[in-house]
Amino acid sequence: MTITDPDPAAVPSTGRTIRTFHPRRGRMSGRQTDALDRLWSSYGLDVSDEPVDLAALFGRRAPVVLEIGSGMGDSTAAMAAADPDRDYLAVEVHTPGIANLLDLVDRADLGNVRVARGDALELVSGLPEGSLAAVHVFFPDPWPKARHHKRRIIQPSHVALLRSRLTPGGVLHCATDWAEYAEAMRETLDADPELVDVYGGFAPRPAHRPVTKFERRAITAGRPVADLIFRRRQR
Ligand SMILES: C[S@@+](CC[C@H](N)C(=O)[O-])C[C@H]1O[C@@H](n2cnc3c(N)ncnc32)[C@H](O)[C@@H]1O
Repeated sequence: MTITDPDPAAVPSTGRTIRTFHPRRGRMSGRQTDALDRLWSSYGLDVSDEPVDLAALFGRRAPVVLEIGSGMGDSTAAMAAADPDRDYLAVEVHTPGIANLLDLVDRADLGNVRVARGDALELVSGLPEGSLAAVHVFFPDPWPKARHHKRRIIQPSHVALLRSRLTPGGVLHCATDWAEYAEAMRETLDADPELVDVYGGFAPRPAHRPVTKFERRAITAGRPVADLIFRRRQR
């Protein structure tokens, strides 16, 4: 099956009109096109309004980590390779990134990765409550202009949705190099009564979060990267 890069406006929608992603198109390399054609039917999932059966998707029952906005997939592939006892579900709207991750999965022969194409918020709505061991939101689009803050993925209603899908004690881990967004994220996460701040503020950089292009660029530009690690309250 060949998939062309979608116009984000055409990503299947449940009616929400404010998107957290930029409309963008991208060219795919031959390697990416080949990976998509060969591997999509085994590892891919189109986001729809159907509920998602995680055990059927991965072919086993293991803790599931959701990687929101996986970009080119480097973090997902590296973390999944280092953590074979957990399953990694990446969700992204950008087809070249999805194809790149499929290529990485194939090259490293990773059985514990699946890739969803579409809006993460729609995917999460279709997951059972309490079904995720962790949600990663690494370098989300910062939407720096005040009039675009409503597009940010970390905002109270989205956080409530993400947190509801975590198991009690499950982790919501966000990272950003945008200082003002980092503060806003912290306030938003702190304000959620069901979340507990593991480090009581910004977390030390966890070794398990791989360094990606976004972090390298931030370091070169002298922008510190902030990690926020919260847990869903245990009942
Ligand atoms: C700035 S990039 C960071 C990529 C990656 N996490 C990394 O650290 O390299 C943010 C990514 O999130 C994706 N994204 C934003 N909102 C999304 C959503 N609602 N559903 C799926 N992907 C989304 C964008 O397409 C983009 O690729």
